[in-house]
Formats: sequence, structure tokens, C-alpha cells
Amino acid sequence: MRNLDTILRRLVPSVAALSHCRWLMAPLDWIDRLLSSPFREARRLPPNRFRIRVGVGNRVLFNQFHHLLLPINFWFHVFSRGYASFDSQILDIGCGCGRFAMPLRDYDLYDSRFTGRYTGLDLDREMIDWCRRHFDQRFDFVCLNHYSRVYNPTGERGAPVIFPVEDDSQDFVFAISLLTHLLPSDLEQYLRETWRVLKPGAVMTMSVFCIDFLDERLRQRWSFPYRQGAAYLQSQRYPEAAVAYEKRYLLDVCSSIGYGGVQLRPGPGQALLVAKKPVSARAAFLAGPAEPTQSEIDSDFWSEEQRATPLRSPAAPAALDTD
Ligand SMILES: C[S@@+](CC[C@H](N)C(=O)[O-])C[C@H]1O[C@@H](n2cnc3c(N)ncnc32)[C@H](O)[C@@H]1O
Repeated sequence: MRNLDTILRRLVPSVAALSHCRWLMAPLDWIDRLLSSPFREARRLPPNRFRIRVGVGNRVLFNQFHHLLLPINFWFHVFSRGYASFDSQILDIGCGCGRFAMPLRDYDLYDSRFTGRYTGLDLDREMIDWCRRHFDQRFDFVCLNHYSRVYNPTGERGAPVIFPVEDDSQDFVFAISLLTHLLPSDLEQYLRETWRVLKPGAVMTMSVFCIDFLDERLRQRWSFPYRQGAAYLQSQRYPEAAVAYEKRYLLDVCSSIGYGGVQLRPGPGQALLVAKKPVSARAAFLAGPAEPTQSEIDSDFWSEEQRATPLRSPAAPAALDTD
């Protein structure tokens, strides 16, 4: 089975690009709609081709649970660590078809709801349009017109991406399986923009393929044989199909931008980059370059309430297994 997966990956360097193929996807969408029709929850999900596009571990059908479980696990991780709360301003970069917005939209238990504001950014016009039709006014979806050979081949080249989001406005910024599709100049610009829009003291977290942490399962799928600057690529023809980086590079980029407490947590699946915008220049200085010691974390880097839930913590997050 694994060999079959490896062969398929070689034949199909980008599942996302393939998911735009109408004649291939239309029958799958149709079968999926038919199978989902008795179940109200399944009918509310995005079309099957979108779920395939954002990554469902090669399950071309019956991927509903996979699609929903990942974001639910993610929010457990985020809320339990205090990175965000139900009234936070949250930015999701590379939001796809709104998979991570869905639990926020649907959570409604004993008067407890998400009352903050969520903004999703993506290059994919079709998925952004779908999200705009299926989420309420707490959610905002914005389409960026930036070039990507895989995700937006007709987009604008050259100009650095500026997020349509105000400085110092977000309590939490995240990107799941986005850095895995960014070449170095974009990756650095997106991390700079994230820093700009985060409130001082707020946390960002982004999943990434890290060469230092590729476990056996990932190695079965990806070997990243090509180099382009700091990036390790799976395909030269579709460079953004899957991109990996070294741990040192990721930590150095974050530190040079000014992030503090930068950590790279190994998977399962993709690694998780976690960093914080320091509350002040002094705090940034005290936090040091990357991966602060526990005493530095306890002394000055964290604000009072966040000392209770420091970044440095042993538990690994849920497996990030998107494409
Ligand atoms: C693997 S999907 C993950 C989507 C979503 N985060 C999830 O996990 O469901 C990668 C997403 O990143 C988007 N993307 C790729 N390059 C991008 C870029 N330069 N800027 C913004 N979004 C991008 C793609 O359109 C796609 O929706």
C-alpha cells in the first residue's frame, strides 16, 4: 500500500493541481454528494474536490472524518494552551475551504460560542467564494492574488504579499500546511507580515515540513530531492507542491524578524513552528535568539497571565497530515 502511495506521489506531483481537473473531480463530487445526502452534517461540508485539494491523506472518498478531526484537535491544542480564546481576533493564512473555521462556526454549547473575529486568507478564488457563502458575519474570507505555480498560476508575480490586516490587531495567527507550499522569499515575507499583524505578546503557529524531523511515514511519501536556495523541493516542475526547510533556517528567519520564544515541535506529521511577538524590545532582547531557556521564559518574556501556559511544554500536537 505504501509503495502504491509512493508511486502515485511520483506520478501526481501535486494533488492540489489535479483537483482542478473537472472531468476527474466531477464524478467523485457526484458520488460523494450521493453518499452524503442522508447526513445533514456531511451535507454542510465543502465539496469533495475541495477536501481533496486541501489534503485528506489520499482518501478520495469517505474523507469527512479526516477533514473534520484535524481542526478539532488543533483547536483543543490552541485553547488548552491559551494561545486564543473564544473572543479572539484570529487570522488563518492559507485557509483553503475553511476547514479550521468550521469548528469555530459550529461550536454552540450552553451559551458558549465563538464571539471573536476570524479572517481567512487564501489564493484560491473558488474556495474563498464557497467560504463566503457558507460562513456568517463573524468570518471574513479574503482572496490574495499572488502567484503560485501550483495554487494560482495566473496571480501577480514579484510584488511582496501584504496582508489586508491592520498592524498589531490579531490575538492569534496560524497557518496549517501553508509553509509547506511557500518558497523562501514568500516564506520570509509571510512571517514578516504575520509579525506585523500580531498584537504584542500574541502567538503564531505554523505547520511545516522540517528536514530535520521527517519521520518514516513522511519519508515514504516525500524525499525532497531538489534544492532551491534554502528550500528542499519534491518537484522541480511544481516547486510549491511540497517544500521543506531545515530547522536552523526556520529558527534564524523568525529570530531575525524579531520573534521570541521560537520553537519547532516535531510531528507526528508536519512539525509545528511556534513563536511569539514580544511585548517589548526589552522582552525580545531577554528572550534571546531562539528556543529560550525555561528561566528566560519565566523571567521576562511572558506576560503575567501567559506564564501559566508557557510554550515550552512536552505534549505534541495532533498529527498534521495535510498535503
Ligand atoms: C494544503 S492546503 C491547506 C489548507 C488549510 N490550511 C487546511 O489545512 O485545510 C494549502 C492552502 O494554502 C493555500 N496557499 C498556497 N500558497 C499560498 C499563498 N502563497 N498564499 C496564501 N495561500 C496559499 C492554498 O490555496 C491552499 O488552500
